[in-house]
Amino acid sequence: MGTEFPRILELAKRLAREAGRVQRENYEGEFEIQTKSVAIDLVTDVDRACEQLIVDAIQAERGADAILAEEGGGSGDPDAEWRWVIDPLDGTANYAHGYPRFCVSIGIERRGVATVGVVYDPLLDELFSAVRGQGARLNDRPLRVSAEARLERAMLATGFAYDVHRSVEDNLDHFSAFVKAARAIRRDGSAALDLCYVAAGRFDGYWELKLHPWDVAAGLLIVEEAGGRTSDFSGRESCASGRQTVASNGPLHEAMLEILRRPRGGASSIGP
Ligand code: IPD
Ligand code: CA
Ligand code: CA
Repeated sequence: MGTEFPRILELAKRLAREAGRVQRENYEGEFEIQTKSVAIDLVTDVDRACEQLIVDAIQAERGADAILAEEGGGSGDPDAEWRWVIDPLDGTANYAHGYPRFCVSIGIERRGVATVGVVYDPLLDELFSAVRGQGARLNDRPLRVSAEARLERAMLATGFAYDVHRSVEDNLDHFSAFVKAARAIRRDGSAALDLCYVAAGRFDGYWELKLHPWDVAAGLLIVEEAGGRTSDFSGRESCASGRQTVASNGPLHEAMLEILRRPRGGASSIGP
């Protein structure tokens, strides 16, 4: 990585803060809301403005880098050394309803390996960051996952994909099983912040189906660098695609996988 990654980290932090300022200034204000894949999948002018701001700056300052951005602002050579994976506003439904839980998420891969992650919550002014091999931070403070080893004492988080109204793979069986097994479950509407909260020990574990690379690119690295564990539901594969995501403090991972591996239809009847 040489001397390049500190500059990349600083640029990612600066752009996350600049996009976060746009979110803060427009929060609860007047903005256009449109739908995307289905009626509950929203995009606002603010999502688009944040993406434009971030993508324009990367293209101006690092023209050789590839970009994958949620609202379509991607560009660049698939063989580029560095790729920026951007969710300009994670938590759009929250933002559209004035619910104060949303963020900017920027993950940067070097030759396909997650290397830098930055997630910024503009209302709390919390900037989560990680560099591979160098730990994770919340603003200037090092982050560490919780030590909780018992599911019945765990606070977990999850979310539901935008096809929840029509898909049988709707996460409701797993949700029921975890409600019965854990101390508490939260559905707070921002996958990137959910992951950072696992890294910070605020949540002990998190799972979700059918996310996208931009939802998890930064947050998974932040969890891992805070000492946590991430995987798909088999426990063997990476969850960088977002298709199946489990992130935990480590001690709880196997207990979470045991529930997530149960076949659909069998989960809700099984308690702790
Ligand atoms: C969504 C949020 C939400 C999760 C959805 C995501 P968006 O991202 O992260 O928590 O449950 O699956 O799509 O659309 O607000 O960027
Ligand atoms: Ca998202
Ligand atoms: Ca988004």
